[in-house]
Amino acid sequence: MNTKMKGRDFLSTNDWTTEELEMLLDVAFDLKKQKALGIPHHLLDDKTLFMLFRDKSTRTRNSTEAAMTQLGGHAHYLTEEAVQISHGDTEKEMGIILSRYGHGIAIRDDIYLGVGHNYMTNVAKYADIPVISLESDFDHPCQMMADVMTVKEKFHNEIRGRKFVMSWAYAPSYAKPMAVAQGTVMMMPRFGMDVTLAIPPEFALQPEAMEIAQKNAEEAGVKFEVTNDMDTAMEGADIIEAKSWGCFMTTRDLKESQEIAKKHSDWILDERRLNLAKKNAIYMHPLPADRNFEVTDAVIDGPHSVVYDEAENRLHTVKAILALTM
Ligand code: CP
Repeated sequence: MNTKMKGRDFLSTNDWTTEELEMLLDVAFDLKKQKALGIPHHLLDDKTLFMLFRDKSTRTRNSTEAAMTQLGGHAHYLTEEAVQISHGDTEKEMGIILSRYGHGIAIRDDIYLGVGHNYMTNVAKYADIPVISLESDFDHPCQMMADVMTVKEKFHNEIRGRKFVMSWAYAPSYAKPMAVAQGTVMMMPRFGMDVTLAIPPEFALQPEAMEIAQKNAEEAGVKFEVTNDMDTAMEGADIIEAKSWGCFMTTRDLKESQEIAKKHSDWILDERRLNLAKKNAIYMHPLPADRNFEVTDAVIDGPHSVVYDEAENRLHTVKAILALTM
């Protein structure tokens, strides 16, 4: 395989071959070991990453910023208010000018369907340095790499044939992006896992993501199933990710989405449902979670939950992405 990743964008896992994603994971495991041993790994000395956040973040911002520091470089934290987007800086200005100053651009733009992925793709068109998605409306590729790393760790690398359940769950806080659900159904089949998507009827994913998930499952010789019954989905599950998203394929109105979600407030991952899964099943959530709505405290704080290891792996995987591409 071609190991030359320098200059490559990372806007969706779909843009990288499975071999390349596996290599990225190898690098992440290596960097995780080096950090544990206290071995410095200044692979990006004097390099600059511009991070543009058009939404809030705890894990993504801090793991990416810490990653740049630990790799010997520096990350600028930019927000919509801090730059001149509202005064006329288009994707062309952002792509060309930031390319003249530094070595990588990372963008979070995940709130509005049809906006974020297009914005990043346009910046990437003009940038001659890598552009990395820190979550769009379409995919959350950095989260996906942390998630598959966590699954590999928890099942001692034996992940082929595992049943991965991506379930919608009720959250009163806000209409969350679909990126994690879409990223999961699109990517996990490529690592040999059977994927079940459990959704109330109004919470369908984008047709493009569903088509990619189906194609990837066929190519990998695994199953991709959809059910409207959360209990049925849990039966025999090895990995459960129960989290909320807005019903953007039903309505673009965020308030209406939350009203529709209320009808399904019984979609919660509790101990009864967890007991329908395999005995050694793991519970994942990218966080932040609406505790006792999406998932009970007993589950998220219980022995099956791997959410903090999953959050830690955001650091090791983004380091691998930055070190390979910048
Ligand atoms: N998982 C995740 O993306 O978390 P943040 O929104 O806090 O970055």
